[in-house]
Amino acid sequence: MQDAGMEELLAQARAAAERSYSPYSGFRVGAALRLTSGETVTGTNVENVSYGLTICAERTALVRAIAQFGPAIRVAAVAVANRNEAASPPCGACRQMLAEFVLPEAPVAFPTTDGIVTMPFHELLPQAFAMRRK
Ligand code: THU
Repeated sequence: MQDAGMEELLAQARAAAERSYSPYSGFRVGAALRLTSGETVTGTNVENVSYGLTICAERTALVRAIAQFGPAIRVAAVAVANRNEAASPPCGACRQMLAEFVLPEAPVAFPTTDGIVTMPFHELLPQAFAMRRK
């Protein structure tokens, strides 16, 4: 995806982070997925008083995309943002969930302590366990 496309996707992730429900951690995360169809789907983290039930922004976006467009979707690009001026690469659980639907070459952009980093998904989760054909 072009840089301008990633900038737009990051802006949508930042907007999604505004809608975070994170009263326990105070960490407001947003994610935006660009599908191969051209559609964009966003998500935010939703916490729970039973802390382990919390769902991350990336998985919220992914399950939303499948609920909306069906299981044949493929994710062509991913952007993650937060409202805490902190690093937030996708956690391990989100990487594994994304692996089921993301193209290996899909760019993934996320904040680090050195600014926004973009890398192909296969570098973020090398040797991913997957049974589904990409
Ligand atoms: N969080 C995400 O939304 N995405 C990640 O990849 C890492 C963590 C959320 C979960 C929780 O609500 C908060 O950040 C603190 O862990």
